[in-house]
Amino acid sequence: MMKAAVMGYGTIGSGVAEILEKNKEVVAKAAGQEISLKYVLDLREFPGSPVEDKLIHDFSVIEQDPEVQIVVEAMGGLNPAYPFVKACLLAGKHVATSNKALVAAYGTELLEIARKNHVNFFFEASVGGGIPIIRPLSTCLTGEKIQEITGILNGTTNFILTKMDKEGWSFDSALKEAQRLGYAEQNPEADVEGHDTCRKIAILMAIATGMEVNYEEIYTEGITRISDTDFQYAEKMGMSIKLVGCGKRKDDGMVSAYVLPLMISRDHPLYMVSDVYNGILVKGNMLGTTMYYGSGAGKLPTASAVVADMIEAAKHSKQNVSMGWCSRKQEIAPMGTNEFHYFIRISGQPEGMLPKLTAFGLREVISIDSQDEFAIISKKMSEAELKEEAAKAEGILKVIRIE
Ligand code: HSE
Repeated sequence: MMKAAVMGYGTIGSGVAEILEKNKEVVAKAAGQEISLKYVLDLREFPGSPVEDKLIHDFSVIEQDPEVQIVVEAMGGLNPAYPFVKACLLAGKHVATSNKALVAAYGTELLEIARKNHVNFFFEASVGGGIPIIRPLSTCLTGEKIQEITGILNGTTNFILTKMDKEGWSFDSALKEAQRLGYAEQNPEADVEGHDTCRKIAILMAIATGMEVNYEEIYTEGITRISDTDFQYAEKMGMSIKLVGCGKRKDDGMVSAYVLPLMISRDHPLYMVSDVYNGILVKGNMLGTTMYYGSGAGKLPTASAVVADMIEAAKHSKQNVSMGWCSRKQEIAPMGTNEFHYFIRISGQPEGMLPKLTAFGLREVISIDSQDEFAIISKKMSEAELKEEAAKAEGILKVIRIE
């Protein structure tokens, strides 16, 4: 039997405890031995809960108990998650986490400590919730040169955008509903401003390239400026708007990486990824395109991925499984060099304004039921070129990139 501890009895931590209990036999069979929860660390009390008798408030109990071999970190944030995880690895315990902020900020160091101490630092649940993506990238696709990863990686924002698109909900009510359903981060800014997606694409690109990707270098734009009028245009064009995280390897060794709302058409594989679901496209140089789809957030799907990591740790209890990335830094291309078509909303009437907009190439002009504005689709331009021309042009209300 292997003893485990869970740090943080919130949405994910309580899900892990529930799965270990409900799927006890399944887990034992897969791991080759029973995984038994010994401690749950949390500052709060949970009277009447199934883990009442396992609750502790002092981390050193876990750190100093040699019987505990696997620790789940489900506290979120960096402090105290980072010092606690580091201490567990140094004490020779395996760690499984769902915390993308931790993995993106300290993954390089924690992977290295795990290697040196012959234990494992696993983080399948940190990207895509219950969707298997870290392990497929680390094992099944290792014979590939991964050229591109584009994903809808945040369930909360996808839920919000879907409600706005399909049901005409306001941004605020959709966000409240996502929070009620347990999808959103404690601080919704991490979701709606794209920071959560940014950390997730950084983790995926680090695995794809085998090098450290600094999430702070990834251009990130959230969905707070997306409005119902944008969706009116999108509908007229047979398109939708999705928050995507994207990483592409370039021929010069650099990686283009960004997080932004993207207009995509009905034939794009991510178009059908709705509600809280996530979808991740991975392009390999031999494989072509594969897609990974499923529940990207929520208690049991995410906890299921954590439990799978615990099983993997139990199966390799004396050995570090090779995965992750090294400390060499992956260079990120400046955002100004990335090229897109642009959907541009303009104030005024096309007759008067179009002659002044020729620098954008004018591939298409779109009108909705408004006397005050219209929109154009530009030619393919670099971000730097777009910025320069937009600064000179009059009446630009909004710009959204188009795939
Ligand atoms: N807040 C995150 C999301 C949770 O909505 O996707 C899963 O990482």
